[in-house]
Order: sequence, then structure tokens, then C-alpha cells
Amino acid sequence: MSVGVGILIVSTLGLIIFTALTRGINPPSNVERIDPKKLHLSGEFAEHNLGTTVAADGSVVTRVIATQFMFSPHCIPVPQGRPVTLRFASPDVIHGLLITGTNVNTMVIPGYVAQVHTEFVRTGNLLMPCHEFCGLGHSEMWAIVQVLAANEFKPDADGRVHCVSEY
Ligand code: CUA
Repeated sequence: MSVGVGILIVSTLGLIIFTALTRGINPPSNVERIDPKKLHLSGEFAEHNLGTTVAADGSVVTRVIATQFMFSPHCIPVPQGRPVTLRFASPDVIHGLLITGTNVNTMVIPGYVAQVHTEFVRTGNLLMPCHEFCGLGHSEMWAIVQVLAANEFKPDADGRVHCVSEY
């Protein structure tokens, strides 16, 4: 009995690893849990951690809250031609987002972090609307992703980057 279960587990894992390696098929998202009731209070998605930061090793991470009916921050600075990790969380209901002109498209489900790795090709302002009906203000829920050239994408002393121009 236990041998049978063992074989089943091993073969299932083997199949997942095989398809992941050979066919680029992965689980739908990184399953990373977060307490939606405490998002604003402390930790990664507290207000002072939102937006774009550059770590000491040069990696760029952007953290955004999707909530009824806005994205916070409203303007999201990202660098051109450099890998970016986008991380989203919702404290209330299911939202979704896409960034126009890119392949970024994800759901944001309360209780989980939605993570996307991407790279932006061209500079300029891109519209990021919510694309999952989330209530009466759904159509008003959008943000701007501002793709900045290297000479404009400058972290401050705390490693934070800000949008440079009005939009
Ligand atoms: Cu948020 Cu629609």
C-alpha cells in the first residue's frame, strides 16, 4: 500500500518536473500566501514599502496594492530593458490587471501575492487597467506604468524610484 502511494507521488512529481522542464508548463502562479486583513499595517505591502525599489544587488521589485477602486501607487516607475519583478496583493476582492502593449496579465486574489517577472522594451507611459469586475468603481480603477530610460530611473538614498513626469 505505502509502496503504491510512494510510486504515485514520485511519478506525479516526475511528471510535473518533466513538463516544467520540457514544455514550459508551470503551476498557474506562485502560491504565496499573505494575510489580506493586515496588508496595510505591516510587512511587505505596508504603505512605505509600496512602489519601486532597487536592491543592493541591482534587482528591481515593484509592489502594488489593488483595492476598490484604485491601484496604490497610482504611478508605477519601471526601468527600460532591465528585469523587473512585479508583486501585487489585494486586501478586499478579486482584481485583475494587464499592462497595455506587454504580456503582463494577472489576477490578484485576496490572500495571495500575484507575481510577474517581465522586462519593458520601450520608454513611455503604459495604461494598467483593472480587468476583473470588482464593483461599481471597476471602470475607474487603473494606474500608469512609467517606463523610464536608464538616466531617469534613479533610486534615491533609500533605493526607491519615483515617477519623473506628469502623465
Ligand atoms: Cu478592480 Cu476591477
